[in-house]
Amino acid sequence: MIDGKNMNEEMRPEIPEREPERQYYFMELAKGFLSEYSERLKHPATYHITTFGCQMNARDSEKLAGILETIGFVPGQSEETADFVIFNTCTVRDNADQRLYGRLGHLKGERYRHPERIIALCGCLMQEPTAVARIKKSYPQVDIIFGTHNIYKLAELFCLYAQEGSRVTDILPEAERIVEDIPSVRKYPFKSGVNISFGCDNFCSYCIVPYVRGRERSREPKDILREIERLTEDGVIEVMLLGQNVNSYGKGLSDPVTFPALLREIAQIEKLKRIRFMTSHPKDLSEDLIRVIRDHPKICRHLHLPLQSGSSRILTAMNRHYTKESYLALAMRLRQEIPELAITTDIIVGFPGETEADVDDTLDVIRQVQFDGAFTFIYSKRANTPAAEMPDQVPKEESRVQFDRVLSAVQEASRERAALRTGKIEEVLIEEISDHDPSYVSGRLSSNLVVHVPGGEELIGTIVRARLSECHGFYYIGERRES
Ligand code: 5AD
Ligand code: SF4
Repeated sequence: MIDGKNMNEEMRPEIPEREPERQYYFMELAKGFLSEYSERLKHPATYHITTFGCQMNARDSEKLAGILETIGFVPGQSEETADFVIFNTCTVRDNADQRLYGRLGHLKGERYRHPERIIALCGCLMQEPTAVARIKKSYPQVDIIFGTHNIYKLAELFCLYAQEGSRVTDILPEAERIVEDIPSVRKYPFKSGVNISFGCDNFCSYCIVPYVRGRERSREPKDILREIERLTEDGVIEVMLLGQNVNSYGKGLSDPVTFPALLREIAQIEKLKRIRFMTSHPKDLSEDLIRVIRDHPKICRHLHLPLQSGSSRILTAMNRHYTKESYLALAMRLRQEIPELAITTDIIVGFPGETEADVDDTLDVIRQVQFDGAFTFIYSKRANTPAAEMPDQVPKEESRVQFDRVLSAVQEASRERAALRTGKIEEVLIEEISDHDPSYVSGRLSSNLVVHVPGGEELIGTIVRARLSECHGFYYIGERRES
């Protein structure tokens, strides 16, 4: 609820009830507030969004930017200099929380230099009442606080703030609806994230996501297809379909659809060249999905398949609903059906009760599957999750030792997997000028591996063929080949 505040009486009769019409109304209204703000600043007001966490948050930030640019804000250089600063927060692990508090502390000192600055916080951490209470008390410079379920409402909240001149808080405990057709600004003109579902119903015992992102809700296939078609009209050739668990997509729809069925439809979109998706929960990965990936070359040869642990005992405690053996069988099946598929994973080390023998099981899976890449995390205790209450919490020093063992095993495996491509000719979607050398451009293979090839800006957003000549562990130096 919005802190007991309401719009001016005279504004009310025209405010549309329906979304997104209501938000377009507020974007128009906000233009007036913005010009007053820019006059006070004596320059066109700028914005900057700092995004923590996952691809979901990155996509949400694109929508926030879309709303702000529709109102008329212009992109600013940094959070230190911009006038309207948003932090889109993450709370999946404690270090994400701490990074935010560090940044807020820094801006507190800047308050006197930039008295007109507006600071907004949104995202997962804001769905935690204790964090919001702490922020309200300790960071008076924060002006607008909203959560994960109402990012589409930024224009409305900005109007309310501009009108009231005091802090606005609007956090919904649960999602009320999916609001379609909110504007967005893409970081890359040629690729885009596309949400297919929101929230998560899996309740892995260590994870806070189901509590802060709510129950799983799927978008209607027609809305997804329409969004992708529009994106392709606008120059997008690669999409990343986003959901906490894409494999359970469509279950709650009035006309249930499976994820493979959705993929088949998306693959028909002529102008679309590449389809990626994440994340796949191993318990819901079907034979049909394996078939659809195998049969559609547009679907990228990359599957992110979080293992979390290789010990069946720990997997049960994690509430993952698969075993070491069933994960291995699935991975082997994937390798057999689609040999060129890259499999990447997430691994947590130091889950309550985890012993060295459990980590040995994880190492065994790493060696057998030979992951192409892995994100390795030290378990972070999240308040009010079942794992936080479990006995035998592992001391940090012990987790560090086991973490290093896991890290070196995944690095060794992914180096070996990457090297297997040496000498092959593959397609690279060029994304940007290389960081290392401006006479090179960098892009990604279908497998998601980074390749640097000689070339200039004109190649950005195009797919080129390259010989993968030099493997440097996690990336290649390639030579261009004519198609
Ligand atoms: N501690 C450590 N890692 C976690 N993840 C989720 N919750 C936690 C936690 N409490 C990891 C999982 C997940 C990834 C996005 O973050 O590996 O797949
Ligand atoms: Fe968290 Fe598990 Fe849901 Fe992934 S599947 S978001 S790890 S609860």
